[in-house]
Amino acid sequence: MNGIQFPLSVARRLLTTGTKVGTNVLGPLDGYVVSIVVVQPLFSLSLHLECCTPQTDCPFVPIARFGIVAAMSKNAVIGVAGGIPWKISQDRRLFKSLTDKSIMIIGKRTFEEHPKLAHINHTRHCIVVSKSMVDIIANREDASETNIELVRSFPEALSMARVLSTEQVNPVSTSGVGDDDCGLCCWVAGGERLYEEALQHESSAEVHLSVVDVEIDIDAERRTGGVAMFPTPSAWGDRFHEVATTLYPRDGDAPSFTYHVYKRKDE
Ligand SMILES: NC(=O)c1ccc[n+]([C@@H]2O[C@H](COP(=O)([O-])OP(=O)(O)OC[C@H]3O[C@@H](n4cnc5c(N)ncnc54)[C@H](OP(=O)(O)O)[C@@H]3O)[C@@H](O)[C@H]2O)c1
Repeated sequence: MNGIQFPLSVARRLLTTGTKVGTNVLGPLDGYVVSIVVVQPLFSLSLHLECCTPQTDCPFVPIARFGIVAAMSKNAVIGVAGGIPWKISQDRRLFKSLTDKSIMIIGKRTFEEHPKLAHINHTRHCIVVSKSMVDIIANREDASETNIELVRSFPEALSMARVLSTEQVNPVSTSGVGDDDCGLCCWVAGGERLYEEALQHESSAEVHLSVVDVEIDIDAERRTGGVAMFPTPSAWGDRFHEVATTLYPRDGDAPSFTYHVYKRKDE
């Protein structure tokens, strides 16, 4: 069948932004092979959207350029037992101002870190990567009414981010071609696996990394709960170069930290 390929979640999102005149589902909704007929209101143009599997990059959806933001201990720990093992107001402020009104991509445990969602409420959209959460609420009618989108993989999250950034400019667009003027409006904010995939991805443009002046006893923490780590610089450092470093001194009980900004060498 001819058509444009989208992950299922992205095709669903497109349907909510165009005028739907009919859907023709060829396979089960969680089976990823779907044909959807959409008519754009202004031009009466009908499109067939054919979904691809969510595990692959979809060749016809341009991928959003994105940044990566993280805070790690001196020995690369980002999380302990589902939380962040330090509290630094200044670092939270930097994080919030960087990601304010942005599209943020996070994993399931990071999403669940604050039950009241204090860590994502400032964003325009939060894309959560999780197979189990998607399975639980796959067909909920109200799922698209929040600013939270659920996807099954990192490539799918990037396709979704592109569509969401397009909506800012042209709310009825179904082309998947996005807004290049918004700069880095998409940030990957953990955890471990997403950082690994994001740092390897050709569309990763910047890394904002706070290195906190604490050392975590990794072996001890592994025995009592989970430890999440940031990838070692040897896995990504050769593709980025440092453009700024700012030292923030100790503030009361909050440890000092250094805020590093890296940009892609090939940009
Ligand atoms: N210091 C920081 O900057 C920072 C930033 C973020 C998080 N954290 C901390 O890090 C910890 C959470 O990180 P984490 O690595 O343990 O968990 P996580 O990445 O937040 O969540 C893991 C779950 O998310 C889904 N997932 C994540 N990456 C995926 C991928 N690439 N493809 C498909 N599914 C993916 C999977 O869910 P399913 O099993 O449902 O498929 C996986 O089980 C917490 O302690 C948090 O506080 C720290």
